[in-house]
Amino acid sequence: RRAPACVLVIFGASGDLTARKLLPALERLAAYGALPPEVALVGVARTVMTDEEFGAYCREKVPGTDNPRWADLVSRARYVHGGYDDPATYTRLAEVLGECDRTHGTAANRVYYLATPPRLFGPIALSLGKAGLGTPAGDAFVRAVIEKPFGWDEDSARELYADLTSAFTEEQIFRIDHYLAKETVQNLLALRFANSIFEPIWNRTWVDNVQITVAETLGVGERGGFYETTGAMRDIVQNHVLQVLSLFLMEPPTSFHPEAIRDEKVKLLRAIRPVDGERDIATNAVRGQYTRGGTRADLMPGYREEPGVDPLSSTETFVAMRLDIDNWRWTGVPVYVRTGKRLPARVTEVAMQFHRPPHLPLFPGTAADLEPDTLVVRVQPDEGLSLRFGAKVPGHAFRVQKASMDFSYQSFEEQSPDAYERVILDALVGDPTLFIRADEVGRSWHIVDPVLRYWAADPRPIPLYQAATWGPPEATALITRDGRSWRHST
Ligand code: BG6
Repeated sequence: RRAPACVLVIFGASGDLTARKLLPALERLAAYGALPPEVALVGVARTVMTDEEFGAYCREKVPGTDNPRWADLVSRARYVHGGYDDPATYTRLAEVLGECDRTHGTAANRVYYLATPPRLFGPIALSLGKAGLGTPAGDAFVRAVIEKPFGWDEDSARELYADLTSAFTEEQIFRIDHYLAKETVQNLLALRFANSIFEPIWNRTWVDNVQITVAETLGVGERGGFYETTGAMRDIVQNHVLQVLSLFLMEPPTSFHPEAIRDEKVKLLRAIRPVDGERDIATNAVRGQYTRGGTRADLMPGYREEPGVDPLSSTETFVAMRLDIDNWRWTGVPVYVRTGKRLPARVTEVAMQFHRPPHLPLFPGTAADLEPDTLVVRVQPDEGLSLRFGAKVPGHAFRVQKASMDFSYQSFEEQSPDAYERVILDALVGDPTLFIRADEVGRSWHIVDPVLRYWAADPRPIPLYQAATWGPPEATALITRDGRSWRHST
Protein backbone atom coordinates (compact mmCIF):
# COMPACT_ATOMS: atom_id res chain seq x y z
CA ARG A 1 0.00 0.00 0.00
CA ARG A 2 1.12 3.54 -0.75
CA ALA A 3 -0.07 6.77 0.77
CA PRO A 4 -1.81 9.17 -1.60
CA ALA A 5 -0.50 12.70 -2.21
CA CYS A 6 -1.03 14.66 1.01
CA VAL A 7 0.52 16.77 3.74
CA LEU A 8 0.98 15.07 7.09
CA VAL A 9 0.85 17.80 9.73
CA ILE A 10 2.14 16.76 13.15
CA PHE A 11 1.00 18.93 16.05
CA GLY A 12 3.38 18.45 18.98
CA ALA A 13 6.23 17.95 16.51
CA SER A 14 8.94 18.56 19.11
CA GLY A 15 7.32 16.29 21.69
CA ASP A 16 7.93 12.85 23.05
CA LEU A 17 5.38 10.87 20.99
CA THR A 18 6.72 12.33 17.75
CA ALA A 19 10.31 11.50 18.62
CA ARG A 20 9.70 8.03 20.05
CA LYS A 21 6.99 6.67 17.78
CA LEU A 22 5.97 8.81 14.81
CA LEU A 23 9.32 9.69 13.26
CA PRO A 24 10.71 6.11 13.44
CA ALA A 25 7.45 4.82 11.93
CA LEU A 26 7.64 7.39 9.12
CA GLU A 27 11.24 6.39 8.40
CA ARG A 28 10.15 2.74 8.04
CA LEU A 29 7.21 3.66 5.84
CA ALA A 30 9.50 5.76 3.66
CA ALA A 31 11.93 2.83 3.43
CA TYR A 32 9.15 0.50 2.15
CA GLY A 33 8.26 3.06 -0.50
CA ALA A 34 4.86 3.71 1.13
CA LEU A 35 5.42 7.49 1.11
CA PRO A 36 5.73 8.77 -2.46
CA PRO A 37 7.37 12.16 -3.22
CA GLU A 38 3.91 13.77 -3.16
CA VAL A 39 3.76 13.27 0.62
CA ALA A 40 5.03 16.25 2.61
CA LEU A 41 5.71 16.60 6.31
CA VAL A 42 4.88 19.71 8.32
CA GLY A 43 5.65 20.03 12.04
CA VAL A 44 3.76 22.39 14.35
CA ALA A 45 4.85 23.09 17.93
CA ARG A 46 5.62 25.86 20.38
CA THR A 47 9.40 25.33 20.24
CA VAL A 48 11.07 27.86 17.97
CA MET A 49 12.80 26.16 15.01
CA THR A 50 13.40 26.81 11.33
CA ASP A 51 12.45 24.32 8.60
CA GLU A 52 16.09 23.22 8.41
CA GLU A 53 16.35 22.77 12.15
CA PHE A 54 13.19 20.66 12.17
CA GLY A 55 14.64 18.52 9.35
CA ALA A 56 17.81 18.05 11.38
CA TYR A 57 15.71 17.20 14.46
CA CYS A 58 13.88 14.47 12.52
CA ARG A 59 17.19 13.02 11.31
CA GLU A 60 18.63 13.09 14.81
CA LYS A 61 15.61 11.23 16.27
CA VAL A 62 16.01 8.33 13.85
CA PRO A 63 19.73 7.57 13.99
CA GLY A 64 21.51 4.93 11.97
CA THR A 65 19.47 5.08 8.78
CA ASP A 66 20.81 5.81 5.31
CA ASN A 67 17.42 5.52 3.70
CA PRO A 68 17.42 8.09 0.84
CA ARG A 69 13.61 8.36 0.77
CA TRP A 70 13.57 9.38 4.44
CA ALA A 71 16.40 11.84 3.80
CA ASP A 72 14.33 13.31 0.97
CA LEU A 73 11.14 13.57 3.08
CA VAL A 74 12.85 15.37 5.95
CA SER A 75 14.93 17.62 3.72
CA ARG A 76 11.64 18.98 2.38
CA ALA A 77 9.96 19.15 5.81
CA ARG A 78 8.38 22.43 6.87
CA TYR A 79 7.85 23.77 10.35
CA VAL A 80 5.43 26.23 11.94
CA HIS A 81 5.97 27.44 15.48
CA GLY A 82 3.43 29.14 17.69
CA GLY A 83 0.80 28.74 20.38
CA TYR A 84 -1.91 26.16 19.69
CA ASP A 85 -4.68 28.67 20.37
CA ASP A 86 -3.02 31.57 18.57
CA PRO A 87 -4.83 32.36 15.26
CA ALA A 88 -1.48 33.50 13.78
CA THR A 89 -0.20 29.90 14.01
CA TYR A 90 -3.04 28.73 11.79
CA THR A 91 -2.67 31.62 9.32
CA ARG A 92 0.97 30.64 8.91
CA LEU A 93 0.03 26.94 8.67
CA ALA A 94 -2.47 27.72 5.90
CA GLU A 95 0.29 29.52 3.94
CA VAL A 96 2.72 26.63 4.38
CA LEU A 97 0.08 24.09 3.31
CA GLY A 98 -0.61 26.14 0.18
CA GLU A 99 3.14 26.19 -0.59
CA CYS A 100 3.32 22.40 -0.18
CA ASP A 101 0.49 21.99 -2.68
CA ARG A 102 2.37 24.14 -5.18
CA THR A 103 5.85 22.71 -4.69
CA HIS A 104 5.12 19.04 -3.85
CA GLY A 105 1.78 18.37 -5.56
CA THR A 106 0.06 17.45 -2.29
CA ALA A 107 -3.32 18.16 -3.89
CA ALA A 108 -4.93 19.97 -0.90
CA ASN A 109 -5.10 16.65 1.03
CA ARG A 110 -4.28 16.97 4.72
CA VAL A 111 -3.88 14.62 7.67
CA TYR A 112 -3.53 16.40 11.01
CA TYR A 113 -1.90 14.16 13.62
CA LEU A 114 -2.47 15.58 17.11
CA ALA A 115 0.56 14.22 18.99
CA THR A 116 0.01 16.68 21.82
CA PRO A 117 -1.23 16.24 25.39
CA PRO A 118 -4.95 15.34 25.18
CA ARG A 119 -6.12 18.58 26.78
CA LEU A 120 -5.03 20.34 23.57
CA PHE A 121 -7.16 18.19 21.22
CA GLY A 122 -10.24 20.40 21.69
CA PRO A 123 -8.44 23.76 21.36
CA ILE A 124 -6.50 22.63 18.26
CA ALA A 125 -9.66 21.32 16.57
CA LEU A 126 -11.50 24.57 17.36
CA SER A 127 -8.64 26.66 15.94
CA LEU A 128 -8.38 24.53 12.80
CA GLY A 129 -12.13 24.91 12.34
CA LYS A 130 -12.02 28.71 12.79
CA ALA A 131 -9.18 28.97 10.28
CA GLY A 132 -11.24 26.96 7.78
CA LEU A 133 -8.61 24.22 7.73
CA GLY A 134 -10.99 21.41 8.66
CA THR A 135 -13.06 21.60 5.50
CA PRO A 136 -11.78 19.73 2.45
CA ALA A 137 -11.40 21.65 -0.78
CA GLY A 138 -13.31 20.01 -3.65
CA ASP A 139 -12.50 16.29 -3.83
CA ALA A 140 -9.58 16.57 -1.41
CA PHE A 141 -9.57 14.89 1.98
CA VAL A 142 -8.85 16.28 5.43
CA ARG A 143 -8.49 13.98 8.44
CA ALA A 144 -7.64 14.40 12.10
CA VAL A 145 -5.86 11.65 14.04
CA ILE A 146 -5.96 11.56 17.84
CA GLU A 147 -4.89 9.04 20.40
CA LYS A 148 -6.59 8.09 23.68
CA PRO A 149 -7.63 9.22 26.23
CA PHE A 150 -10.80 10.45 24.53
CA GLY A 151 -12.10 12.38 27.50
CA TRP A 152 -12.00 11.51 31.15
CA ASP A 153 -15.57 10.29 31.54
CA GLU A 154 -18.74 10.18 29.46
CA ASP A 155 -19.44 13.92 29.87
CA SER A 156 -15.96 15.15 29.02
CA ALA A 157 -15.87 12.73 26.06
CA ARG A 158 -19.05 14.41 24.83
CA GLU A 159 -17.44 17.85 25.20
CA LEU A 160 -14.37 16.69 23.28
CA TYR A 161 -16.67 15.32 20.59
CA ALA A 162 -18.38 18.72 20.32
CA ASP A 163 -15.01 20.47 19.91
CA LEU A 164 -13.79 17.96 17.33
CA THR A 165 -16.99 18.06 15.33
CA SER A 166 -16.92 21.87 15.24
CA ALA A 167 -14.14 21.40 12.69
CA PHE A 168 -14.53 17.86 11.34
CA THR A 169 -17.25 15.37 10.53
CA GLU A 170 -17.15 12.03 12.34
CA GLU A 171 -15.83 10.38 9.13
CA GLN A 172 -12.83 12.71 9.21
CA ILE A 173 -11.84 11.76 12.77
CA PHE A 174 -9.47 8.82 13.27
CA ARG A 175 -9.20 7.76 16.94
CA ILE A 176 -6.28 5.46 17.62
CA ASP A 177 -6.30 2.53 20.01
CA HIS A 178 -2.87 1.03 19.43
CA TYR A 179 -4.13 -2.39 20.59
CA LEU A 180 -6.21 -2.66 17.43
CA ALA A 181 -3.02 -2.37 15.40
CA LYS A 182 -1.51 -5.43 17.08
CA GLU A 183 -1.24 -8.38 14.74
CA THR A 184 -2.86 -10.83 17.16
CA VAL A 185 -5.80 -8.56 17.85
CA GLN A 186 -6.46 -8.39 14.13
CA ASN A 187 -5.99 -12.12 13.96
CA LEU A 188 -9.11 -12.44 16.11
CA LEU A 189 -11.04 -11.61 12.97
CA ALA A 190 -9.20 -14.26 10.97
CA LEU A 191 -9.52 -16.84 13.72
CA ARG A 192 -13.24 -16.36 14.08
CA PHE A 193 -14.36 -15.65 10.55
CA ALA A 194 -11.80 -17.28 8.23
CA ASN A 195 -12.35 -20.69 9.85
CA SER A 196 -15.45 -22.75 10.24
CA ILE A 197 -14.49 -24.81 13.29
CA PHE A 198 -14.52 -22.09 15.93
CA GLU A 199 -17.72 -20.16 15.33
CA PRO A 200 -20.10 -23.08 16.13
CA ILE A 201 -18.65 -23.34 19.64
CA TRP A 202 -18.41 -19.56 20.19
CA ASN A 203 -21.45 -19.26 22.42
CA ARG A 204 -23.02 -20.02 25.79
CA THR A 205 -23.73 -23.64 24.90
CA TRP A 206 -20.01 -24.43 24.87
CA VAL A 207 -18.27 -21.60 26.66
CA ASP A 208 -18.21 -21.40 30.43
CA ASN A 209 -16.34 -18.11 30.86
CA VAL A 210 -13.94 -15.72 29.16
CA GLN A 211 -10.88 -14.17 30.81
CA ILE A 212 -9.03 -11.15 29.49
CA THR A 213 -5.69 -10.28 31.08
CA VAL A 214 -3.56 -7.22 30.34
CA ALA A 215 -0.69 -7.57 32.79
CA GLU A 216 2.40 -5.40 32.91
CA THR A 217 5.54 -5.89 34.97
CA LEU A 218 6.54 -2.25 34.77
CA GLY A 219 5.36 0.36 37.25
CA VAL A 220 4.30 3.86 36.25
CA GLY A 221 7.93 4.96 35.89
CA GLU A 222 8.21 8.61 34.91
CA ARG A 223 4.50 8.90 34.09
CA GLY A 224 3.35 9.29 37.70
CA GLY A 225 1.86 12.75 37.13
CA PHE A 226 -0.24 11.56 34.20
CA TYR A 227 -1.21 8.30 35.87
CA GLU A 228 -2.40 10.01 39.05
CA THR A 229 -5.34 11.52 37.14
CA THR A 230 -5.89 8.41 35.02
CA GLY A 231 -5.60 5.06 36.82
CA ALA A 232 -5.87 1.58 35.35
CA MET A 233 -9.60 1.77 34.56
CA ARG A 234 -9.22 4.81 32.30
CA ASP A 235 -5.78 3.84 31.00
CA ILE A 236 -6.49 0.25 29.97
CA VAL A 237 -10.02 -1.05 30.69
CA GLN A 238 -12.06 1.73 29.07
CA ASN A 239 -10.18 1.33 25.80
CA HIS A 240 -7.81 -1.60 25.19
CA VAL A 241 -9.72 -4.21 27.21
CA LEU A 242 -13.16 -3.25 25.91
CA GLN A 243 -11.90 -3.10 22.33
CA VAL A 244 -10.35 -6.56 22.50
CA LEU A 245 -13.44 -7.87 24.29
CA SER A 246 -15.81 -6.52 21.66
CA LEU A 247 -13.80 -7.97 18.74
CA PHE A 248 -13.62 -11.33 20.49
CA LEU A 249 -17.30 -11.58 21.34
CA MET A 250 -19.17 -9.54 18.71
CA GLU A 251 -21.52 -11.08 16.14
CA PRO A 252 -20.01 -11.89 12.73
CA PRO A 253 -20.10 -8.75 10.57
CA THR A 254 -21.83 -9.07 7.20
CA SER A 255 -18.71 -7.74 5.46
CA PHE A 256 -15.24 -6.50 6.33
CA HIS A 257 -16.31 -2.98 5.55
CA PRO A 258 -14.99 -0.79 8.41
CA GLU A 259 -18.49 0.36 9.36
CA ALA A 260 -19.82 -3.21 9.40
CA ILE A 261 -17.15 -4.19 11.93
CA ARG A 262 -17.59 -1.07 14.03
CA ASP A 263 -21.38 -1.57 14.05
CA GLU A 264 -20.95 -5.05 15.50
CA LYS A 265 -18.43 -3.86 18.10
CA VAL A 266 -20.72 -1.15 19.36
CA LYS A 267 -23.67 -3.57 19.48
CA LEU A 268 -21.63 -5.82 21.74
CA LEU A 269 -20.57 -2.87 23.94
CA ARG A 270 -24.23 -1.91 24.27
CA ALA A 271 -25.04 -5.41 25.45
CA ILE A 272 -22.54 -5.24 28.33
CA ARG A 273 -24.49 -4.68 31.52
CA PRO A 274 -22.95 -1.68 33.31
CA VAL A 275 -21.72 -2.61 36.79
CA ASP A 276 -23.75 -0.14 38.78
CA GLY A 277 -25.06 0.40 42.31
CA GLU A 278 -23.20 -0.21 45.54
CA ARG A 279 -23.84 -3.93 45.81
CA ASP A 280 -23.11 -4.70 42.20
CA ILE A 281 -19.86 -2.72 42.26
CA ALA A 282 -18.72 -4.20 45.57
CA THR A 283 -19.26 -7.69 44.14
CA ASN A 284 -18.10 -7.30 40.57
CA ALA A 285 -15.34 -4.68 40.54
CA VAL A 286 -12.05 -4.70 42.43
CA ARG A 287 -9.34 -2.06 42.44
CA GLY A 288 -5.86 -2.26 43.88
CA GLN A 289 -2.62 -0.34 44.18
CA TYR A 290 0.90 -1.80 44.28
CA THR A 291 3.13 -1.42 47.28
CA ARG A 292 6.86 -2.02 47.51
CA GLY A 293 7.76 -5.60 46.62
CA GLY A 294 9.90 -7.96 44.62
CA THR A 295 13.03 -9.63 45.86
CA ARG A 296 15.86 -8.27 47.96
CA ALA A 297 17.99 -8.06 44.83
CA ASP A 298 15.25 -6.44 42.81
CA LEU A 299 13.20 -4.35 45.18
CA MET A 300 10.52 -2.34 43.41
CA PRO A 301 9.10 0.86 44.88
CA GLY A 302 5.46 1.15 45.81
CA TYR A 303 3.15 3.30 43.68
CA ARG A 304 3.05 6.05 46.30
CA GLU A 305 6.85 6.24 46.24
CA GLU A 306 7.01 6.83 42.47
CA PRO A 307 7.97 10.31 41.22
CA GLY A 308 4.98 12.60 40.66
CA VAL A 309 2.65 10.48 42.81
CA ASP A 310 0.80 11.75 45.88
CA PRO A 311 2.13 9.85 48.94
CA LEU A 312 -1.50 9.34 49.99
CA SER A 313 -2.76 8.54 46.50
CA SER A 314 -5.77 6.27 46.06
CA THR A 315 -5.34 5.90 42.29
CA GLU A 316 -5.84 2.31 41.17
CA THR A 317 -2.99 0.52 39.39
CA PHE A 318 -5.01 -2.72 39.18
CA VAL A 319 -8.58 -3.50 38.18
CA ALA A 320 -10.46 -6.80 38.06
CA MET A 321 -14.08 -7.01 36.99
CA ARG A 322 -16.78 -9.46 36.14
CA LEU A 323 -18.78 -8.27 33.15
CA ASP A 324 -22.00 -9.83 31.92
CA ILE A 325 -23.32 -9.60 28.41
CA ASP A 326 -27.04 -9.44 27.94
CA ASN A 327 -27.53 -10.95 24.53
CA TRP A 328 -28.67 -14.27 23.10
CA ARG A 329 -25.17 -15.61 22.51
CA TRP A 330 -23.50 -14.74 25.82
CA THR A 331 -26.14 -14.62 28.55
CA GLY A 332 -24.80 -16.43 31.61
CA VAL A 333 -21.16 -16.45 30.40
CA PRO A 334 -19.17 -14.16 32.68
CA VAL A 335 -16.28 -12.22 31.22
CA TYR A 336 -13.56 -11.69 33.82
CA VAL A 337 -11.11 -8.94 33.02
CA ARG A 338 -8.02 -7.88 34.91
CA THR A 339 -5.21 -5.47 34.30
CA GLY A 340 -2.46 -4.05 36.41
CA LYS A 341 1.00 -2.60 36.65
CA ARG A 342 3.76 -4.40 38.55
CA LEU A 343 2.24 -7.83 38.11
CA PRO A 344 4.51 -10.90 37.98
CA ALA A 345 4.48 -11.24 34.16
CA ARG A 346 4.00 -9.12 31.07
CA VAL A 347 1.19 -10.85 29.26
CA THR A 348 -1.87 -9.84 27.30
CA GLU A 349 -4.21 -12.68 26.46
CA VAL A 350 -7.79 -13.67 25.92
CA ALA A 351 -8.77 -17.09 27.20
CA MET A 352 -12.02 -18.87 26.51
CA GLN A 353 -12.76 -21.69 28.92
CA PHE A 354 -15.20 -24.36 27.81
CA HIS A 355 -17.68 -26.24 29.97
CA ARG A 356 -16.35 -29.22 31.87
CA PRO A 357 -17.37 -32.63 30.52
CA PRO A 358 -20.73 -33.54 32.01
CA HIS A 359 -19.82 -37.10 33.03
CA LEU A 360 -16.36 -38.43 33.88
CA PRO A 361 -16.81 -42.01 35.21
CA LEU A 362 -13.45 -43.16 33.80
CA PHE A 363 -11.42 -40.55 35.59
CA PRO A 364 -12.43 -40.42 39.21
CA GLY A 365 -11.33 -37.28 40.95
CA THR A 366 -10.28 -35.46 37.78
CA ALA A 367 -13.42 -33.47 37.09
CA ALA A 368 -12.75 -31.07 39.91
CA ASP A 369 -8.99 -30.54 39.55
CA LEU A 370 -8.58 -30.73 35.81
CA GLU A 371 -8.36 -27.26 34.31
CA PRO A 372 -11.17 -26.78 31.76
CA ASP A 373 -10.43 -26.99 28.03
CA THR A 374 -9.22 -23.54 27.09
CA LEU A 375 -8.53 -21.62 23.91
CA VAL A 376 -5.93 -18.93 24.55
CA VAL A 377 -5.13 -16.07 22.21
CA ARG A 378 -1.78 -14.63 23.27
CA VAL A 379 -1.73 -11.03 22.17
CA GLN A 380 1.78 -10.48 23.57
CA PRO A 381 4.50 -11.50 24.09
CA ASP A 382 5.10 -14.75 22.19
CA GLU A 383 2.13 -13.98 19.95
CA GLY A 384 0.06 -17.01 19.08
CA LEU A 385 -2.77 -19.29 19.94
CA SER A 386 -3.05 -22.44 22.00
CA LEU A 387 -5.74 -24.95 22.69
CA ARG A 388 -5.43 -26.72 26.01
CA PHE A 389 -7.17 -30.03 26.40
CA GLY A 390 -6.96 -33.21 28.51
CA ALA A 391 -4.77 -36.13 27.36
CA LYS A 392 -3.91 -39.46 28.94
CA VAL A 393 -0.53 -39.56 30.64
CA PRO A 394 1.38 -42.62 29.29
CA GLY A 395 1.51 -45.49 31.79
CA HIS A 396 -0.60 -48.17 33.39
CA ALA A 397 -2.72 -45.81 35.39
CA PHE A 398 -5.42 -43.82 33.63
CA ARG A 399 -4.36 -40.32 34.47
CA VAL A 400 -5.41 -37.27 32.52
CA GLN A 401 -3.27 -34.17 32.24
CA LYS A 402 -3.55 -30.93 30.29
CA ALA A 403 -1.75 -30.86 26.95
CA SER A 404 -1.45 -28.00 24.49
CA MET A 405 -1.67 -27.49 20.74
CA ASP A 406 0.27 -24.36 19.98
CA PHE A 407 0.55 -21.96 17.10
CA SER A 408 3.21 -19.27 17.25
CA TYR A 409 3.42 -16.20 15.05
CA GLN A 410 7.11 -16.89 14.75
CA SER A 411 6.23 -19.66 12.32
CA PHE A 412 5.49 -16.97 9.72
CA GLU A 413 8.47 -15.57 7.86
CA GLU A 414 6.88 -12.14 7.56
CA GLN A 415 7.51 -9.58 10.26
CA SER A 416 4.67 -7.69 11.92
CA PRO A 417 4.80 -3.99 11.21
CA ASP A 418 5.03 -1.71 14.21
CA ALA A 419 1.63 -0.49 15.45
CA TYR A 420 2.41 3.13 14.55
CA GLU A 421 3.51 2.28 11.00
CA ARG A 422 0.16 0.65 10.53
CA VAL A 423 -2.00 3.39 12.02
CA ILE A 424 -0.17 6.19 10.21
CA LEU A 425 -0.48 4.44 6.86
CA ASP A 426 -4.14 3.58 7.51
CA ALA A 427 -4.85 7.23 8.35
CA LEU A 428 -3.06 8.44 5.21
CA VAL A 429 -4.85 5.87 3.04
CA GLY A 430 -8.16 6.57 4.82
CA ASP A 431 -8.97 3.10 6.16
CA PRO A 432 -10.85 3.60 9.47
CA THR A 433 -11.20 -0.11 10.41
CA LEU A 434 -8.63 0.06 13.21
CA PHE A 435 -9.87 3.35 14.59
CA ILE A 436 -12.58 3.87 17.17
CA ARG A 437 -15.89 5.50 16.34
CA ALA A 438 -17.51 8.10 18.63
CA ASP A 439 -20.37 5.81 19.67
CA GLU A 440 -17.84 3.15 20.82
CA VAL A 441 -16.05 5.76 22.94
CA GLY A 442 -19.29 6.91 24.55
CA ARG A 443 -20.51 3.40 25.25
CA SER A 444 -17.18 2.37 26.79
CA TRP A 445 -17.33 5.30 29.19
CA HIS A 446 -20.90 4.37 30.01
CA ILE A 447 -19.67 0.94 31.16
CA VAL A 448 -16.85 2.15 33.41
CA ASP A 449 -18.20 5.50 34.68
CA PRO A 450 -20.44 4.21 37.51
CA VAL A 451 -17.52 2.25 38.98
CA LEU A 452 -15.16 5.20 38.72
CA ARG A 453 -17.69 7.48 40.41
CA TYR A 454 -18.25 4.95 43.18
CA TRP A 455 -14.52 4.51 43.81
CA ALA A 456 -13.93 8.27 43.83
CA ALA A 457 -16.52 8.65 46.61
CA ASP A 458 -15.56 5.50 48.54
CA PRO A 459 -13.94 6.55 51.85
CA ARG A 460 -12.42 3.10 52.49
CA PRO A 461 -8.69 2.71 51.75
CA ILE A 462 -7.84 1.19 48.39
CA PRO A 463 -6.88 -2.52 48.59
CA LEU A 464 -3.12 -3.00 48.23
CA TYR A 465 -0.98 -5.67 46.58
CA GLN A 466 2.73 -6.18 46.69
CA ALA A 467 4.65 -5.45 43.49
CA ALA A 468 5.19 -8.69 41.51
CA THR A 469 2.00 -10.36 42.76
CA TRP A 470 -1.31 -10.90 40.93
CA GLY A 471 -3.26 -8.09 42.59
CA PRO A 472 -5.07 -7.84 45.92
CA PRO A 473 -6.80 -10.88 47.50
CA GLU A 474 -10.17 -9.32 46.57
CA ALA A 475 -9.36 -10.11 42.91
CA THR A 476 -9.08 -13.80 43.70
CA ALA A 477 -12.28 -13.68 45.73
CA LEU A 478 -14.13 -12.06 42.79
CA ILE A 479 -13.71 -15.19 40.69
CA THR A 480 -13.48 -18.01 43.27
CA ARG A 481 -16.88 -16.91 44.56
CA ASP A 482 -18.26 -18.12 41.22
CA GLY A 483 -16.48 -21.48 41.61
CA ARG A 484 -13.81 -20.56 39.06
CA SER A 485 -10.21 -19.39 39.14
CA TRP A 486 -7.97 -17.08 37.17
CA ARG A 487 -5.94 -18.80 34.52
CA HIS A 488 -2.23 -19.00 35.21
CA SER A 489 -1.04 -16.59 32.59
CA THR A 490 2.66 -17.28 32.77
C1 BG6 B 1 -0.95 2.54 26.98
C2 BG6 B 1 -1.04 2.90 28.42
O1 BG6 B 1 -2.14 2.87 26.31
O2 BG6 B 1 -0.73 1.14 26.86
C3 BG6 B 1 0.20 2.47 29.17
O3 BG6 B 1 -1.22 4.31 28.55
C4 BG6 B 1 0.47 1.01 28.95
O4 BG6 B 1 0.07 2.73 30.57
C5 BG6 B 1 0.47 0.70 27.46
O5 BG6 B 1 1.73 0.71 29.50
C6 BG6 B 1 0.57 -0.79 27.21
O6 BG6 B 1 0.75 -0.99 25.84
P1 BG6 B 1 1.54 -2.26 25.31
O7 BG6 B 1 1.45 -2.13 23.82
O8 BG6 B 1 2.91 -2.20 25.87
O9 BG6 B 1 0.76 -3.43 25.84
